[in-house]
Amino acid sequence: MSELGSRRLENRVAFVSGGVRGIGLAVVERFVLEGAAVVLSDLDAEGSPVVEAVLSRLDGAASYVRADVSVEKDWSGARDFVESKHGRLDILVNNAGMGVAGKVEALTLDEWRRQMAVNVDGTFLGTKYFIPLMARPQADAPRGASIINVSSIAGMVGYSETSAYCASKGAIRTFTKCVAVEMAARKLPIRVNSIHPGYVRTPFLDTGFQRWVDQGMGESVDALIGNVSAATPMGRLADPSEIAGAAFFLASDDSSYMTGSELVVDGGWTAQ
Ligand SMILES: NC(=O)c1ccc[n+]([C@@H]2O[C@H](COP(=O)([O-])OP(=O)(O)OC[C@H]3O[C@@H](n4cnc5c(N)ncnc54)[C@H](O)[C@@H]3O)[C@@H](O)[C@H]2O)c1
Repeated sequence: MSELGSRRLENRVAFVSGGVRGIGLAVVERFVLEGAAVVLSDLDAEGSPVVEAVLSRLDGAASYVRADVSVEKDWSGARDFVESKHGRLDILVNNAGMGVAGKVEALTLDEWRRQMAVNVDGTFLGTKYFIPLMARPQADAPRGASIINVSSIAGMVGYSETSAYCASKGAIRTFTKCVAVEMAARKLPIRVNSIHPGYVRTPFLDTGFQRWVDQGMGESVDALIGNVSAATPMGRLADPSEIAGAAFFLASDDSSYMTGSELVVDGGWTAQ
């Protein structure tokens, strides 16, 4: 972990879905560095070596509950876990996601539904189950709670052979704005914003690029990374910690007047 920590999330409790690897793990690490107690969830079994390795690196500041974000009872279990362990939730990061790719007429209805189940149902269910806990006023957090939904630049612009993923990320973008407006209208102390990463070097990206290589759409993963870097104004991919920085900003009181907004973190990709 870096030396960025200002401990501005001291006394705050955060929940991060898909927190065992990639962007989710970087967010967990940054929140712990900033003093938060973090509950992370993922598909890995409780007590599995990968989970234990993550928790031991975080020096007791984090705990784990297994939850498939597309399964409603897993969310009620996660909510019960957080409530009994901490009695509050200040920050929710709906990060877990996956991607289905392929020509639109070749996609099966099952693939389409799985895409929506993980990315869209997962974001909806996390929000639904945690709002009652997050809406409780906390004397040491007068600016209220923060929900951060991880969308994508694929939720803002179209990509070829990526229709299901783009549609799911677009749904997260608009869902975010609706819940933001609803929380404000109901005078509930919860801000809701989305993050739109560009290309980030994670297992998700490597797997997706490998699939393109297997389908003859590129020479190698490194060659594809080179192409994407060259097409990005900043000339490189993002490190997961750079998305975690945006999540920290939205989690902290520095963003106290932001709700319903979309934070684009893409090295200039969508600015062209
Ligand atoms: N990597 C990128 O370039 C990029 C760009 C834009 C947006 N995103 C988004 O960022 C988020 C994180 O992506 P990443 O690149 O870190 O991916 P990743 O695959 O490296 O990590 C995602 C994590 O989510 C978990 N997960 C997947 N399905 C789940 C389910 N049903 N229930 C619970 N957990 C589940 C995985 O096990 C994994 O640990 C995703 O929502 C993704 O769409 C990624």
